[in-house]
Amino acid sequence: MIHERNSKRMTYASRLTMVAGLLISLALLPVVAAGQSLMGRWAATGKTMDNGEVQKAILNLTQNGNDLTGKLVALGYGVDVKGTVTGNHFELFGVGWNDKKPFLVGDLVNGELHGMQWGDAFVARPATAGDELPKQPYLEPPALHTVPYNGLAKTPPMGWNSWNLFAEKIDDQTVRTMADAMVSSGMRDAGYIYVNIDDTWEGVRDAQGNLQANHKFPEMKALADYVHSKGLKLGIYSSPGPRTCGSYPASYGHEAQDANTFASWGIDYLKYDWCSAGNIYKNDALQPVYQKMGEALHATGRPIVYSLCEYGMGSVEKWGADVSGNLWRTTGDIRDEWDSMMANVELQVPTAPYAGPGHWNDPDMLEIGNGHMSEDEYRTHMSLWALVAAPLLAGNDIRSMSASTKAILLNKEVIAIDQDPLGKQASPKKNGDMETWVKRLADGSVAVGVVNLGTSAAKAEVHASDLHLSQAGGKARDLWSHKDVQFKGEVYAATVPSHGVLLLRVW
Ligand code: GLA
Repeated sequence: MIHERNSKRMTYASRLTMVAGLLISLALLPVVAAGQSLMGRWAATGKTMDNGEVQKAILNLTQNGNDLTGKLVALGYGVDVKGTVTGNHFELFGVGWNDKKPFLVGDLVNGELHGMQWGDAFVARPATAGDELPKQPYLEPPALHTVPYNGLAKTPPMGWNSWNLFAEKIDDQTVRTMADAMVSSGMRDAGYIYVNIDDTWEGVRDAQGNLQANHKFPEMKALADYVHSKGLKLGIYSSPGPRTCGSYPASYGHEAQDANTFASWGIDYLKYDWCSAGNIYKNDALQPVYQKMGEALHATGRPIVYSLCEYGMGSVEKWGADVSGNLWRTTGDIRDEWDSMMANVELQVPTAPYAGPGHWNDPDMLEIGNGHMSEDEYRTHMSLWALVAAPLLAGNDIRSMSASTKAILLNKEVIAIDQDPLGKQASPKKNGDMETWVKRLADGSVAVGVVNLGTSAAKAEVHASDLHLSQAGGKARDLWSHKDVQFKGEVYAATVPSHGVLLLRVW
């Protein structure tokens, strides 16, 4: 379980570090000769962030022979590490991250460590006594009780989020032009309403403790007004810890104050990301900690969609709705790769009974159009998110979508499956390379997706008996070819390309 939790933390830490470009400098306490121990406490400083602050991290290492174990604690996250040292060369992995490559690789050169952290160069220098992360007072989590439902997200939220493509390179101008494109591309009219700013918008707190935006967002209220003037809604991001995953100031101890700030800016959606709360609380505090912000949002009186982002830890699906969460992540971060996309949607299968109007399981945001999956794979991505009633938050550049990306994101017949008011989450059945997902819909019809997991084209068969319909003699429609199709007796068969999908709606 510990391993599993760590693996869920993995992706936020790795993505954070990769994207924020933390240049870790590791200071080795003793002078290390070949064969000498790397055991000790190491200090790290990193790049200057968009709010003028400097990234920091502390690494504790234990060495046993050539094996290294320990923990890296950065401002925004903590992770157990393990690795090896061979002569002057060391390699470190995040425990449970399942990464094939080490995230920190370096060599000892003239008493300094020189190396790379996910593509960013780092130089190690000696630690000083002052190399500490800021100490945080422990705030006792509140007693549990139910926060009233905010009445929002009767169907899975739809919109756009900045993280998957832009990461820390997001600013006011990009959000405005994205909002324009949401309208001109037809995204808004198809239901994609929320325009969500993810991490790295944050500045520092003023003398009264009010959180300011950094220079990339000169006036958040004016931005919200602009987004609202387009018939869209604005989302923002914070963490229950002292720092976001990108190490920016977050809402720990400032929950009510930040909720009021967000409401005063006109924010309509909050993604609340565990991150550094994991450096303070154990997982048994997840629910009360999330309850705190749920309550604070409720107290503002403004309808604000509440998105819990804690990678599925602590069986969030069982209590997310009690803290007035409208959606909760069930997995680590998605990557724009077939394996990652499939792993995320399959990981949330056990949560199916907990999805429903007002509260949704979230296998993470869409990667459609970001360029690293095939068109067939993106169609499968969209089909599966619709079948499992996932939030549809596009993560691509809406301003420059290709015709194919547009056709996928704007497929109204598929969106209707996602937005079906019954709010059922499909579950899969595997038959060789074919995986069949069936979703019951409000009008008594059924959506069925057959995904070809294999490496070559294969025949997909849909049997009326799999659909729990007494007969499938009525209407059936292929939602990607946009054509009515005909069952032959109890069966409909079609050839599906590798990683492609057959998606039908059957009445
Ligand atoms: C975590 C989340 C991501 C994104 C980043 C931002 O990794 O899971 O979706 O919000 O943090 O730092």
